Amino acid sequence: FFGIQARSLPVSPDPNLCVERDPNLKCCPSWMGKKIVDFTPPQQPSPLRVRRPAHALDPEAAQKYAAAVASMRALPSDHPWSFIQQSNVHCAYCNDGLLQNGLNISLEIHGSWLFFPWHRAYLYFYERILGKLAGDPSFALPFWNWDHPAGMSIPEIYRDNSSSLYNPTRYPKALNFTDIGGCPNDGNTTTLDALKQCNLRVMHRQFAAAFNSSDLFLGHPYRAGGKPNPGGGVLEWLPHGPVHVNTGGDISQIPTSGLDPLFYNHHANVDRLWAIWAAIPGNGSKTFGDPDFNDASFLFVDENLQLVRIRVSDCASTRNLGYIYEDVPLPWLNVTT
Ligand code: C2O
Repeated sequence: FFGIQARSLPVSPDPNLCVERDPNLKCCPSWMGKKIVDFTPPQQPSPLRVRRPAHALDPEAAQKYAAAVASMRALPSDHPWSFIQQSNVHCAYCNDGLLQNGLNISLEIHGSWLFFPWHRAYLYFYERILGKLAGDPSFALPFWNWDHPAGMSIPEIYRDNSSSLYNPTRYPKALNFTDIGGCPNDGNTTTLDALKQCNLRVMHRQFAAAFNSSDLFLGHPYRAGGKPNPGGGVLEWLPHGPVHVNTGGDISQIPTSGLDPLFYNHHANVDRLWAIWAAIPGNGSKTFGDPDFNDASFLFVDENLQLVRIRVSDCASTRNLGYIYEDVPLPWLNVTT
């Protein structure tokens, strides 16, 4: 074996092992032991799904979305499409739920280069399941446009306490303003406009810091056998983290995040920022150079109730996954820091 470098291996979950860390939460998925099929991208001519900002959603689309989430909530709790199982999947992929394949050590999809692709794949299936429940193959998940002043608080559609999109555990103050990192609303010392400008400066600074570095944007390498949490990307740390924490309640803690419908829309915006970053010339190719990144894989139950193995390389382009983001202004791009 002279001259042959020991090759590391990509991370993948053990399909048969899951540890319940929190007996009250019990978040191991109900798919254990099911047959696994390899992911195939949606075939043409399926309609392209266009994800739009939640604050600008038309009433009809908002109603359809709320109705689909209501059907999800009405499913029996052990059904793989049920709201609770969807939330459990996120919980199981963090710290001690699912384990690394054949290694009997924790698998954690936060705090490394798995963060962006895992959440992209997760939302992909979530959106398609909702589309199935809505009977609409063009159904698209809205995104929480917290990088735009019009989106810097909990969007209206999530506020109605009779809606399936509501969660009662959020902080009331997040109805006024969501601090995306270091712009606290601490009373009357500052105006709402000034707070929003502060958010825009945070966005600008974070994006600029990771502008052409995949390590800084996506996070550090995490390979099979590696210790969880080698370090997340600049945007995972902030604004992603503070938006969770400052919204409060279920969404502020990783294991319970998925219990708030707003979580999926928060992550659609995170995913959108990845797509914006990847479109910067040169960045797309940097992203997928490492085989341990490309071949890392995850398991999800899809909209046909199959257990699917999807690889990071399958997640390279949103268009291949059958969706795009509506082009909206980026007011943080030219803000001065
Ligand atoms: Cu999986 Cu925003 O956390």
